[in-house]
Amino acid sequence: MPEIKVMDHPLILHKIGIIRKKETGSKEFRELIGEIAMLMTFEATRKLELEDVEIETPITKTKVKQLKGKKVAIVPILRAGLGMVDGMLTMIPAAKIGHIGLYRDPKTLEPVEYYCKLPEDCANREIYVVDPMLATGGSSSAAISMLKNKGVKNIHFMCIIAAPEGLERLKKEHPDIDIYIGGLDEKLNENGYIVPGLGDAGDRIFGTL
Ligand code: PRP
Ligand code: URA
Repeated sequence: MPEIKVMDHPLILHKIGIIRKKETGSKEFRELIGEIAMLMTFEATRKLELEDVEIETPITKTKVKQLKGKKVAIVPILRAGLGMVDGMLTMIPAAKIGHIGLYRDPKTLEPVEYYCKLPEDCANREIYVVDPMLATGGSSSAAISMLKNKGVKNIHFMCIIAAPEGLERLKKEHPDIDIYIGGLDEKLNENGYIVPGLGDAGDRIFGTL
């Protein structure tokens, strides 16, 4: 069953409070995005399957758990999704990384695709699509459609801030994926920005304000 989970861990909520502040500068913003992504990875990987294997400790033989089955790939939506990758890699160092380049046309708010490079075996991996912001849902929905067109089935989406409008769209267009959200906000404004939100995530990560 696909899962939709809004985070409730105090450390995640505290850090989200700091990145929302307009006076938080790029260095701190970038570090916190990485830390939040790392903490969210715990929740988002809870369903990964384990298997028993026999090993030998210095004392005796015993059975331990190890991850079973499919390997992981992280697919950030450029640009802002890049800010989440290092934090996730701290938790899953062997993950491969794909990239999907999309930007939102400021007038139509429709996603425009400009890049797609994925691990060759991505159809056999658990894929974590990541983007700090789920606003109208156009970018993430398009990214997930691109992956499905390449045969990917096991898709999870992780964002730090979501608008209800984007969440509804993603649930409708991709009812089969897991969705992990740091904070679910009130609404979109007339320019398609999340309210209260945190402004433009890409600009704040890369200092291009
Ligand atoms: C932002 C954000 C998402 C998208 C969300 O990217 O990082 O990708 O907007 O909006 P949506 O849900 O309405 O599609 P942006 O288009 O600003 O590009 P950037 O990451 O290159 O700054
Ligand atoms: N993209 C952002 O970076 N922020 C928003 O609030 C909406 C889309």
